[in-house]
Amino acid sequence: MDQVLNPYNPGAGTRPYELSGRSDEITAMGVTLQRLLIGRNGRSQFLTGLRGVGKTVLLNEFSLLAGNHGYIHEHIEISEDGQLPKRLAAALRKVLLKLDGKKKVADVARHALGVLKAFTLTLPDGSSLNIDVDAVSGAADSGDLAGDLAGLFEEIGRAAKAHDTGVLITIDELHYVPVGVLEALIMGLHRTNQLTLPITIAGAGLPSLPAVTGEAKSYAERMFTFPEIGSLDFEEAASAILLPAEAEGIRWEDDAVARMYEVTQGYPYFIQEFGKQAWDIAEAGSGVIRRGDVDRSVPLAITELDTGFFQVRTGKTKDPERAYLRAMAELGPGIVKSADVAKLLKKTTTQLGPVRDALLKKALCYSPRFNELAFTVPMFDEFMKRWIPDFP
Ligand SMILES: Nc1ncnc2c1ncn2[C@@H]1O[C@H](COP(=O)(O)OP(=O)(O)O)[C@@H](O)[C@H]1O
Ligand SMILES: [Mg+2]
Repeated sequence: MDQVLNPYNPGAGTRPYELSGRSDEITAMGVTLQRLLIGRNGRSQFLTGLRGVGKTVLLNEFSLLAGNHGYIHEHIEISEDGQLPKRLAAALRKVLLKLDGKKKVADVARHALGVLKAFTLTLPDGSSLNIDVDAVSGAADSGDLAGDLAGLFEEIGRAAKAHDTGVLITIDELHYVPVGVLEALIMGLHRTNQLTLPITIAGAGLPSLPAVTGEAKSYAERMFTFPEIGSLDFEEAASAILLPAEAEGIRWEDDAVARMYEVTQGYPYFIQEFGKQAWDIAEAGSGVIRRGDVDRSVPLAITELDTGFFQVRTGKTKDPERAYLRAMAELGPGIVKSADVAKLLKKTTTQLGPVRDALLKKALCYSPRFNELAFTVPMFDEFMKRWIPDFP
């Protein structure tokens, strides 16, 4: 097929031609944003799911919605260091500068900037954020993160309200944030939620994310839903496969779609990758993608995935970590018991504790239940077996 027109687009956070199967989340978020703007309650979302299911594109979709509703939006991506407060402060600084730029009630935004400045001064290295106003102490500089965030969000929520606008902060890769900080974030947002101020957060992370406890847990359940974003069912996958081609006047044989569903298991990233390769391999000018095209593209797609999608996650792993992952793969695609992994590696779970912790910290695995482990990347077991074929 014409390679220039290839409408499939594998890539982290890349918007697909057809965002299939996510209309519930998008509709719910639209309603919430609208309600917050008119001073009503609304539940935002913490999306959870494996890598490559479409959490980031959904967060991006939320930010587009926010823009459509006249919100000010900022995005934060947490990295392996797990640092949240300073990134959040930097995002809130941008929010307030945008509000300040509106000049409508600039003094409100200025005051909020002063509160933000006082907050940043409580953070290690926070003074490096360039905020050109005098610090306003008292509201957000006690050093207690939950209380300070509450003060800060309230200040910003009031400033947004004074400007007849709302604020949405999207936070991706939230699973890297330590649970205590996540709890502080939720506690902090709770006050603005009670005051029905137009400020909210939408988050995304791996399945290990919602493990907050106590008071934060009950607040979180009131303020957020936790949609589990997963693979697409056959109908949804078929739309994701067919519609991009249809737009270019190309059709897929039924058999080819069935085969695509088989090899991708409905995982969005894989649909994009296998779709791209099948498109490239299909005979130019024929106007149709056949089952044989999919079959022939499988090895190419797998090579692409192995050297990209899968390999980027394993680049920094050490030998014992790779051995651990390989042993997990031996035990199957789903949830495995740490004790079984240890048995295979002829070690005790205590001996392997640090390796297991390192893999959890790198978010290659998560722990769905005590003493159980699963991969955070779909079909990772198959990749490990290709990468390290021989298991002693
Ligand atoms: N609903 C969907 N339908 C079709 N393709 C999708 C869908 N959601 C995501 N994708 C594609 O899957 C890939 C991974 O999406 P991404 O948002 O980065 O996943 P995650 O953040 O969960 O790791 C991207 O190439 C994206 O275009
Ligand atoms: Mg993502």
